[in-house]
Amino acid sequence: MALNQRHLNPQLGRILRTLGFDREWASGRGPYLIDRQGDEYLDLLSGYGVFSLGRSHPYVKEQLSRVLAADSANLPQLGVSTLPGVLAEELIARAPAPLDGVVLTSSGTESVETAIKLARAATGRPRILFCERGFHGLTLGSLSVNGNEEFRERFEPLLPACDPVPFGDLDALRGELDRGEVAGFLVEPVQGKGVNLPPDGYLQAAQQLCRAAGALLIVDDVQTGLGRTGRLFTSDHWGLEPDMVTIAKSLSGGYVPIGAVLASRAVLSAVFDSMERGVVIGSTFGGNDLAAAAGIATLQTIEREGLVERAAQLGDLLLELTRPLVQRFEIVREVRGLGLIWAIELGPPAGRAARRLWDAIERRQPGLFAQLVTVPLFHDHHILTQVAGHHMNVVKALPPLITSDEDIRRFATALEQVLEGAEEHLFRSYASLGFELGRRSLAARRV
Ligand SMILES: Cc1ncc(COP(=O)(O)O)c(C=O)c1O
Repeated sequence: MALNQRHLNPQLGRILRTLGFDREWASGRGPYLIDRQGDEYLDLLSGYGVFSLGRSHPYVKEQLSRVLAADSANLPQLGVSTLPGVLAEELIARAPAPLDGVVLTSSGTESVETAIKLARAATGRPRILFCERGFHGLTLGSLSVNGNEEFRERFEPLLPACDPVPFGDLDALRGELDRGEVAGFLVEPVQGKGVNLPPDGYLQAAQQLCRAAGALLIVDDVQTGLGRTGRLFTSDHWGLEPDMVTIAKSLSGGYVPIGAVLASRAVLSAVFDSMERGVVIGSTFGGNDLAAAAGIATLQTIEREGLVERAAQLGDLLLELTRPLVQRFEIVREVRGLGLIWAIELGPPAGRAARRLWDAIERRQPGLFAQLVTVPLFHDHHILTQVAGHHMNVVKALPPLITSDEDIRRFATALEQVLEGAEEHLFRSYASLGFELGRRSLAARRV
């Protein structure tokens, strides 16, 4: 932490100290993070969705060791190596039609940037439509299609011709498509910020509208993809046939940064239409052997361990255990999820006095109530969760797909206890916890 404060991200250090999340992490195993004292924490954040297979998966480790031991002909650049080809073949074999080719990258945001470039070049049109509250990464191209003001401010001007539409609003999408010149509509099938699920029929209808307008449908599966929602590709829930799909995060097996854009042959042929244009998209480390081996091992593990089905079952269990909390607690507004992307939204209680207190605290620090759930979950129950976005009273969980039924039950019980404490002592506990957070924040500021 001292080195972080001196050389890396001191504001992150302040946040961690304020919340009391500044553990000295020593190791990671399966769904657990383990601190220097040997205490295990159930990690329902999964490194923002990286650790679908859990941490330190033995098979991924073994495969990476084999690549290292083989002294493989990595990154010949003016040549090709085997592993990236195998990964591309394995991905396409499992992907929805009409996806037929792959561009390998090294992150989610690079995949999104690549998809934007492919869409513009393939259609010869400039405009990209994206969703309010959408999140696609933080480099400038991806930021231009980021629907969260807090990330955009102070980095403008961003790319021109990128226009937001409300998530779930087909009329707005139709209206923007009617204005013409749209290269593509970029959409997360389930929005990571806030964990917003698409209304019934939305994505299918969006696909039809895009087709009719000659615009490409680009599904960003970076967070949701590769099994998390209970399907290998989230598009499969609705039988979508997207023109492009972006993936990254869990494809890494938790080890090597990697991303990919899966695209239709029509898109790829339109962009790479001559030898001269063979290198207009790509990057030095895209398709390196270690990343490709991690990706192949990940796909194999997902299949061998039945993790897609497991995510669907665990997601059902989690909803079954936590949906009743809406009836049970006044401050619980909604519980929602698809497979293992899950959230609980809090809202003001009914009583007038309690509501006034809620409003007062919200005015001082929007989204504080969600922290009043994540903090006791961490300290009292050793469970790591996150707030689903800026100024939101939504607590989110992205459990590893290998999480046990017992740990899902443990989480549901812990959550119930935390909510019980919060509601029973609404005034006292909120006020004192709010005070405690304020005190810690002051103490952290002095450090
Ligand atoms: C849906 C989605 N797209 C893109 C990204 C960006 O990925 P990366 O952080 O690897 O650049 C994220 C990251 O959270 C994401 O959730």
